[in-house]
Amino acid sequence: MAHPAAKSRFVLLAFFVIALFLFVRLEGYRAAPSPVPQAKEGTSDAKEGTSGGSSSGALLTGHAIAPKLGNATAKAELGRAAWKVLHTTFGRFPEKPTADEKEALRSYVHLFQRLYPCGECAEHFGKILAKYPPQVSSRSAAAMWGCMVHNMVNKRLKKAEFNCENIGDAYDCGCGEEDAKDKSG
Ligand SMILES: Cc1cc2nc3c(=O)[nH]c(=O)nc-3n(C[C@H](O)[C@H](O)[C@H](O)COP(=O)(O)OP(=O)(O)OC[C@H]3O[C@@H](n4cnc5c(N)ncnc54)[C@H](O)[C@@H]3O)c2cc1C
Ligand SMILES: *[C@@H]1O[C@H](CO)[C@@H](O)[C@H](O)[C@H]1NC(C)=O
Repeated sequence: MAHPAAKSRFVLLAFFVIALFLFVRLEGYRAAPSPVPQAKEGTSDAKEGTSGGSSSGALLTGHAIAPKLGNATAKAELGRAAWKVLHTTFGRFPEKPTADEKEALRSYVHLFQRLYPCGECAEHFGKILAKYPPQVSSRSAAAMWGCMVHNMVNKRLKKAEFNCENIGDAYDCGCGEEDAKDKSG
């Protein structure tokens, strides 16, 4: 090792060994399985959730995640707030969305269902989504679809049917004066 040429060869060799070690580790991270939760086999949602793409299908349509809520008061409060968010989201969605915006809304609705904090509600709503996938082609299509699926939940809970012709008046369409003020403030 005293010879200078031998010493520099050793340093070079050590450098390559370290570089190889780091490369192998990085490849290992890239090849690691993604932390995306997979749908449980045997749940009704997993079986029915075939409307999504093959790679994102399990993420968007897998099993409902939250536990049972039970408490009827909390369930109703949560429901009113959630429907408000959903209908207002549809009412302010672009009338002519881009492909990216359509995909965003579709994913949002599916994940809204999967993560809905009332587990038993999410389970029921998952079955509705499997049969009637979100309509994302335009604001009016999305709003009408939202009104329709809400009516399905109303029916199951023995509530009055809502007239979907009035859906544009019931929720902010995003085209009034109030909207212009919001954007400047
Ligand atoms: C995805 C989801 C699933 C649910 N699943 C269950 C469940 O399984 N079990 C359960 O007990 N509760 C469930 N709920 C809650 C339930 O739907 C109600 O929100 C809750 O019972 C309170 O009802 P509400 O009579 O105050 O009016 P909501 O149904 O909450 O409606 C709020 C307001 O929206 C308007 N509205 C009514 N129908 C429509 C419509 N079709 N389109 C647009 N606007 C409308 C009316 O002005 C109404 O007052 C769920 C809620 C959501 C968001
Ligand atoms: C049910 O939920 C309501 C509203 O969140 C809450 O005020 C009440 O204490 C809850 N009841 C029980 C028994 O947890």
